[in-house]
Amino acid sequence: MSIGISIDHIGAATGGDRGGPAQPLLTVNRLVKHFDLKKSFIETLIGGGKVVRAVDGVDFRIMKGETLGVVGESGCGKSTTARLLMHLIAPSAGEIVFDGETVGSPALPLREYRRQVQMVFQDSYSSLNPRLTIQDSIAFGPQVHGVPKIESISRARDLLARVGLEPRRFAGRYPHELSGGQRQRVNIARALASKPRLVILDEAVSALDKSVEAQVLNLLMDLKDEFGLTYLFISHDLHVVRYISDRVMVMYLGKVAETGPAEAVFEQPLHPYTRALLSSMPSMDPDHRTEEAALVGDPPNPIDPPPGCRFHTRCPQAEAICARTVPSLEATDGRETACLIHEPGSGHSRADAVIYAA
Ligand SMILES: Nc1ncnc2c1ncn2[C@@H]1O[C@H](COP(=O)(O)OP(=O)(O)OP(=O)(O)O)[C@@H](O)[C@H]1O
Ligand SMILES: [Mg+2]
Repeated sequence: MSIGISIDHIGAATGGDRGGPAQPLLTVNRLVKHFDLKKSFIETLIGGGKVVRAVDGVDFRIMKGETLGVVGESGCGKSTTARLLMHLIAPSAGEIVFDGETVGSPALPLREYRRQVQMVFQDSYSSLNPRLTIQDSIAFGPQVHGVPKIESISRARDLLARVGLEPRRFAGRYPHELSGGQRQRVNIARALASKPRLVILDEAVSALDKSVEAQVLNLLMDLKDEFGLTYLFISHDLHVVRYISDRVMVMYLGKVAETGPAEAVFEQPLHPYTRALLSSMPSMDPDHRTEEAALVGDPPNPIDPPPGCRFHTRCPQAEAICARTVPSLEATDGRETACLIHEPGSGHSRADAVIYAA
């Protein structure tokens, strides 16, 4: 690297590794977020009212040092999950456990958790104050957490160099004086300034041109190794998710459809929804096109989701039982899927068969 920086000074993630590498960094148990809709006069009187079931009982883990990719159609609850993890919104129910400690408990107060979890959004302007220089924006978070100004500025300049923005040229600039790719590099530096352990990237590269996107993705991968980070990576771009993720979680209408190692999920998807989603992915290899029918139409409304398996209304393998029984997330060989076909004895005619995509 042409710019001499001290990595020690930037510092790796802090907060200790309490449970060792086998303990997940993040465990999410039965997480729920229902948004209240505006009530009518009658509903107000009788105490009714509809809710949007944006996230409706989600369980997953993120292991230390891994990248968990999250995919699913628009509106399936990816960003709501991210906002819940950041505690930007309060959950309706459920629990978040960070390195063995329940978030919000005396052992892990919200303020301490918030420092260890940072987020980068799609809109590169949204986290940057237009009236602050980028150096001051990056230094702001650490200052709020008590880092002396001189030290936080020095950390900001080191991080600018590390994300490829030479501090002497860029530190004094304002957000509007940068390109989208440069602003996203600033946002990454801003997220890292608090020395987080988990970084949530919600469509963080989606707005960038393809060549810039590739550069930022490579930067993210380098930073992850260097600072010992763990990523939750949300994207609608399945190619990008496959490229960057160790494991993948597929969401459908507020629930987890499937999780597993990225290669396994992309090569041999278990859930019919995953297969349908992947078949919409243009293949680079003509011999490798799936036979599966692509998804037709939009997902049902999360205000009134279908009973039983939420995917049954669009599933080519659905049977009557699928409209009555909610599948549980079954785990086998490091993979999980919520489909009655993979639930022995569920009553689905193919329940005992192991279905792999061709
Ligand atoms: N504040 C809110 N009030 C009411 N409904 C909301 C609110 N925020 C999100 N929703 C709804 O919750 C559902 C999940 O939204 P979310 O933004 O989490 O989806 P997403 O998977 O991130 O979609 P996209 O791929 O388009 O970003 C959607 O139906 C959305 O309209
Ligand atoms: Mg979103």
